[in-house]
Amino acid sequence: MYGLVNRALAEMVTADHGAEVWQEIKDASGIDVGEFHAMMPYPDEVTVGLIGAASARLQVSPSVVLRALGAYWIRYTAKEGYGDLLQLAGGSFPAFLQNLDAMHARVGLSFPELQPPSFRCTDVTEASLIFHYYSERSGLTDMVLGLLEGLGQLFSLDVSITPLTLKDAGADHDTFHVTYAPL
Ligand code: HEM
Repeated sequence: MYGLVNRALAEMVTADHGAEVWQEIKDASGIDVGEFHAMMPYPDEVTVGLIGAASARLQVSPSVVLRALGAYWIRYTAKEGYGDLLQLAGGSFPAFLQNLDAMHARVGLSFPELQPPSFRCTDVTEASLIFHYYSERSGLTDMVLGLLEGLGQLFSLDVSITPLTLKDAGADHDTFHVTYAPL
């Protein structure tokens, strides 16, 4: 994945635990990279290794790290110059979720090797929808939960998410029942 993702993880861990802890995590994952370049693609194994090492060092499950990273991603991209893309993506939470593929297509103009996820919303009402997540990757379900929570914060909504089907459990793709109400 592009270094932007690894940079977000670095910044999140450093903000919460300090630069030394982040260095220990990088050392433990065996990655000999000083700073990640946002616009450079790195093997997915690099990100997976960092998540695993962060989980071990911080003594939380990889799910907890991924979920926190998902929520952090919304704040991080907004301040790293992608705020306009976030704004363009839609004026409401459900509109935003329905525009995610178009948004990643725009992201792909700057990141030519992007392998973006794909999302679909069905059964959309004023207070709930079914959110479908498709990816060439696996293991990122918890990041999607965090992303939805981060978007809830962005739109000042109380969001609850119930997984319905999971690719990890043999389903074709992940689906979530998502409900949202004003805070
Ligand atoms: C302007 C904001 C955003 C930018 C710049 C952005 C950019 C990116 C980039 C660079 C990647 C790495 C993919 C690769 O390198 O192949 C990625 C992956 C991903 N993005 Fe976004 N993204 C944004 C917002 C969002 C939002 C709001 C969601 C909410 C669901 C989202 C969901 C994901 C997921 C789940 C992945 C993991 C890749 C996968 O599942 O295969 N992104 N995005």
